[in-house]
Amino acid sequence: MPDGIAYGGDWNPEQWPEETWEQDVALMREAGVNRVSVGIFSWSSLEPVEGVFDFGWFDRVMDLLAENGIGANLATPTASPPPWFSDAYPQALPVDADGRRLHHGSRQGFCPSSPIYREKALRVAEQVALRYRDHPALVLWHVHNEYGCHNARCYCDTSAAAFRDWLRGRYGTLDVLNDAWGTAFWSQRYSDWAQILPPRATPSLPNPAQQLDFRRFSSDALIELYVAERDLLKQLTPDVPATTNLMAGAHWDMDCWAFAAEMDVVSTDHYLIGARRERHIDLAFAADYARSLNGGRPWLLMEHSTSAVNWQPRNLAKTPGELRRNSLTHLARGADGIMFFQWRQSRSGAEKWHSAMLPHAGTDTKIWREVAALGAELAALGDVAGSTVKADVALLLDHSSVWAQDHPAQPTAELDPVEEAKRWHAALWRAGVTCDLAHPEADLTGYRLVVVPQLYLVSDAGAANLEEFARRGGAVVVGPYSGIVDEHDRVRLGGYPGAWRDLLGVSVEEFFPLDEPIRLASGATGSVWSEAARVTTAKVLDTYATGEPAWTRNEFGDGAAHYLTTLLDDAALAEVLATACREAGVSAVAASVAGVEVVRRSHPDGRSFLFCINHTTEDAAVTTPAGGTVTVAAGDAVVIPG
Ligand code: GAL
Repeated sequence: MPDGIAYGGDWNPEQWPEETWEQDVALMREAGVNRVSVGIFSWSSLEPVEGVFDFGWFDRVMDLLAENGIGANLATPTASPPPWFSDAYPQALPVDADGRRLHHGSRQGFCPSSPIYREKALRVAEQVALRYRDHPALVLWHVHNEYGCHNARCYCDTSAAAFRDWLRGRYGTLDVLNDAWGTAFWSQRYSDWAQILPPRATPSLPNPAQQLDFRRFSSDALIELYVAERDLLKQLTPDVPATTNLMAGAHWDMDCWAFAAEMDVVSTDHYLIGARRERHIDLAFAADYARSLNGGRPWLLMEHSTSAVNWQPRNLAKTPGELRRNSLTHLARGADGIMFFQWRQSRSGAEKWHSAMLPHAGTDTKIWREVAALGAELAALGDVAGSTVKADVALLLDHSSVWAQDHPAQPTAELDPVEEAKRWHAALWRAGVTCDLAHPEADLTGYRLVVVPQLYLVSDAGAANLEEFARRGGAVVVGPYSGIVDEHDRVRLGGYPGAWRDLLGVSVEEFFPLDEPIRLASGATGSVWSEAARVTTAKVLDTYATGEPAWTRNEFGDGAAHYLTTLLDDAALAEVLATACREAGVSAVAASVAGVEVVRRSHPDGRSFLFCINHTTEDAAVTTPAGGTVTVAAGDAVVIPG
């Protein structure tokens, strides 16, 4: 990617008369925009009739960008097949679990396994690539848009056949599949591959392993589509990097670890969700996740919003300064590009109430002033580009585990692995400790502390990986209902948590989901979950009223592993994590001040940048690692050397 921080948003000029385009690029320059994503939803404008292409208007768009020194994340327009496509090929429309075939009139109206969709998508992608492969505006391929946002799983007959092929590849024989899926249960034994279906609507609970494999297959099917487009683009433009925008931290239908591995640079979209209080911490989680997906290297924030979105029950506008704080948080956590959906706020269509860089009211607005000021600030922070964030702590997260736990027959529906992961991450955030996310089988060397908030499913390799980390001196904290089943959702027998009984020095006989919070001996509260556990080699650090352990610590090899058998309240969880951080020698970037985020990015040559972002309404004094003090005004942020 070019020098400096990429700044801009999705530009959808096809929504506007051509007279506005010159004004658009002039305003882009005024706002410091140096990059836009174009062509994302242009399929019906580029190929208005099947096989008939109209690139004239898009040539002018690309030329305008080049003339104005603005780079293009050039999209393949495959996320929204035109009406002619579904009209001609209705068999390619997606089908839901109840057998309803969906119609066109929105976007992502295609079955991911449809051969005809793939053929037409690759053809239009090829046309775009052939036309613009040498265009000076082309910087990055933006393949498709948010794979799986709306059509992550299709249950049609084509998908069923593709699912069977995928299963044949995974299991080889029906006997192996029957064993892995536990089909002796409820008389589900398959005697012919043709009998296997996607988990369509059934009278009662579906087979959990079938459901889990279908989630895996569905994610793979979309990744395969990305790879097909990427490979085609690579043939034509081997030197142009390719990405697609993930929805890391928000949507869990795609296996982001597997997907990221296929990209030249990871990009992701992030939108604030829910109530105002502390939603910047959820943002930090997504940013840390994006950085981790890109192996710690700088990544690209492909979309966020300048203010309100339009798809929540109540769409909160951003308060003055929030746009800047949000953007600087992404930057602090490793982004080398800060982009928005979208450049000019739409006049029509389903997203006309979604904020943009250039709002309906024009340039004499809070949003425009903040957008232009941010453009100038990011230009001045160009030296940050290329620097990285070092974390001593990793938090383990795996999509397969989230998917397996999603089955409706669990001990409680109230234990949410994603919410737990975010809660633990938030506790570290409040302590000022920067944290990576990692797949359970990832290389953990380099970390001092690994936390496992709630990982129901773990493979043998993942289980051994964590043990090995502790054996070599690492510190570990594991939350309840972790290490319970193998990769086929089969219970690990002999006492829970089967994968980590030795590591934790604990054996659990039975789960006791809670209907109300309970008090522990320490005065802390536990909620949602409790367990009847017995220590084998661990020491007990806190107990239930019954005397059974709530918090334990086990020496293991050269390291130690803490275990929690309930969801501790936030303060008690912070205490456990602080204990583990102390034992592991992990400290905050700067002494933590409530509501103030401090993160460091560094270059290998020693130049480093300390981002101090004050999310509170009070001025704050931050003690820098060098021992100085910097005052960060309420709602303000500073970036200083250090
Ligand atoms: C994203 C999508 C954009 C736009 C945005 C609105 O999911 O990629 O096209 O719809 O959401 O928040």
